[in-house]
Amino acid sequence: METKILTATDIPVAVEFLREGELVAFPTETVYGLGAVATDAAAVKKVYQAKGRPSDNPLIVTVSDAAMMRKYVAEVPEAAEKLIEKFWPGPLTILFKVKPGTLPDIVTGGLATVAIRNPKDQLTQDLISQLGLPIVGPSANTSTKPSPTSAQHVYHDLQGKIAAVLDHGETKIGLESTIIDLTTKQPIILRPGQISQQELAAALGQEVLLNSGKVADSQVPKAPGMKYRHYAPAAQVIIVDQPEDFAELKVDQETGVVALDKVLSKYNFVNTYSLGADLASASHNLFAALRYFDQKASINKIYVQGFQTGSLAPAYMNRLEKAAAGKHYR
Ligand code: TXA
Ligand code: MG
Repeated sequence: METKILTATDIPVAVEFLREGELVAFPTETVYGLGAVATDAAAVKKVYQAKGRPSDNPLIVTVSDAAMMRKYVAEVPEAAEKLIEKFWPGPLTILFKVKPGTLPDIVTGGLATVAIRNPKDQLTQDLISQLGLPIVGPSANTSTKPSPTSAQHVYHDLQGKIAAVLDHGETKIGLESTIIDLTTKQPIILRPGQISQQELAAALGQEVLLNSGKVADSQVPKAPGMKYRHYAPAAQVIIVDQPEDFAELKVDQETGVVALDKVLSKYNFVNTYSLGADLASASHNLFAALRYFDQKASINKIYVQGFQTGSLAPAYMNRLEKAAAGKHYR
């Protein structure tokens, strides 16, 4: 199969591919997603195959607005109405009780809940509203690789396996959406993202828990996907928490260094990838940096700057900890 790169004027072509049961990758403000009609079990099965994704890991359902969401959920709690009003369209995925019989089991992994997302990207909103049906939307990478923040990343991983990529340039945020579970007694964040714990608590007027992924408490619901290896380049990733620690690093031809401009400009590291000026640009650039060094067979170790403060820090560190399998410089 030849994978086509489509742009804004090709939306009808993308709609037709989806109607025929083919896969189309689509842009969002977080990362690119891999779309198939969510009500078409055979098409959704191809998504798992193309990504090499374990079949017990359920998919996000992507809608063009809240009205479309209401057709697939059993109930909309008051808290969800508040968050939708404030954050949709935007980088927030909400777990609902699924309306029985509306979505195939392959989408939800047979769970009683469904994760629904309304991304802020005009091309994708047009795509879904013209299709008139929701699409599944896992990140459009090969399973275990960093999520794609450009159409080129998608093409690299999935060329020949999907019908098309709808190209809308680099994604803005660069880290996947915040996932919140409102089906539990207390709202709990299953995956941190740009919309922070503090913002969610303020919007709800209620405490919101953050599942750090570190607790082994079986009472705490988890996003099933969080148990898998993730964002992992072939090289060993090591987190450098303090900027001054970069001064001591033993760096050779086989080492990559990923840090802010102000850190990189102090030293003469051979292989570098800039995270830009601040934590926002670092979040935007993290996955591209990991992919950049993954392409270089000679690199066997990658030092990446960590961040302890800033509202994006929990989301950034959550992805980086997974890429590094928890390994810190000290
Ligand atoms: O920003 C995003 O959310 C991107 C863009 C493309 O929309 N999508 C994305 O999808 O990150 P994915 O599949 O890579 O991650 C979704 C996570 C997985 O860890 C999955 O296990 C979890 O959401 N998930 C999906 N349905 C769930 C459910 N019913 N209950 C708990 N977790 C669920
Ligand atoms: Mg993913």
